[in-house]
Amino acid sequence: MPAPLPPAVGAEDFRRGMRRLASGVTIIASALGGERSGLTATAVTSLTAEPPQLLVCVNRSAAAHEQIRKGEALCVNLLALEHRALAERFAGIGGIHGPERFEAGAWTTLATGAPVLADALAAFDCVVVDAVDVATHTIFISRVVAVRAREDGVPLAWESGGFASVRREE
Ligand SMILES: Cc1cc2nc3c(=O)[nH]c(=O)nc-3n(C[C@H](O)[C@H](O)[C@H](O)COP(=O)(O)O)c2cc1C
Repeated sequence: MPAPLPPAVGAEDFRRGMRRLASGVTIIASALGGERSGLTATAVTSLTAEPPQLLVCVNRSAAAHEQIRKGEALCVNLLALEHRALAERFAGIGGIHGPERFEAGAWTTLATGAPVLADALAAFDCVVVDAVDVATHTIFISRVVAVRAREDGVPLAWESGGFASVRREE
């Protein structure tokens, strides 16, 4: 019989610690039947380079969740400092929802048809190869089928509940 799990810390304590994790800010975007949806997300990480795969965590309550699940494709767009207003828009700050979010920014597509931000620091166009439901979220294991990257630009980050910039230390 496995040993019982020790009690977990409270969600507030967990959040207080996690606030100090600086993360790059992305927009996860998908399209299904010509309708686009997207959300701002920091829960994105590299999973493996061979094969090239990303791990993308999306709350099941997000409008894009259903579309990603059904369409089995998404694009991870890494944001630059100048994309702050876009990050806010895709986080629902300002009350803009659904396809209307794409009325700001220059959007194109690569391989899958998922929306690609033309001037993203990098865009990873992916097909979803696995989806794992964990409590409130789904982990989408995403295979990168096309990538586009800029050499210039300052990454937009999120830390202590606010936007930040990533400055290189020499
Ligand atoms: C900086 C930042 C990071 C976020 N990261 C995530 C994330 O990784 N996953 C997620 O599901 N929601 C994340 N959110 C919340 C969604 O962007 C937000 O709930 C969005 O409005 C969901 O889209 P909807 O309004 O179309 O449902 C984040 C929000 C912010 C401001």
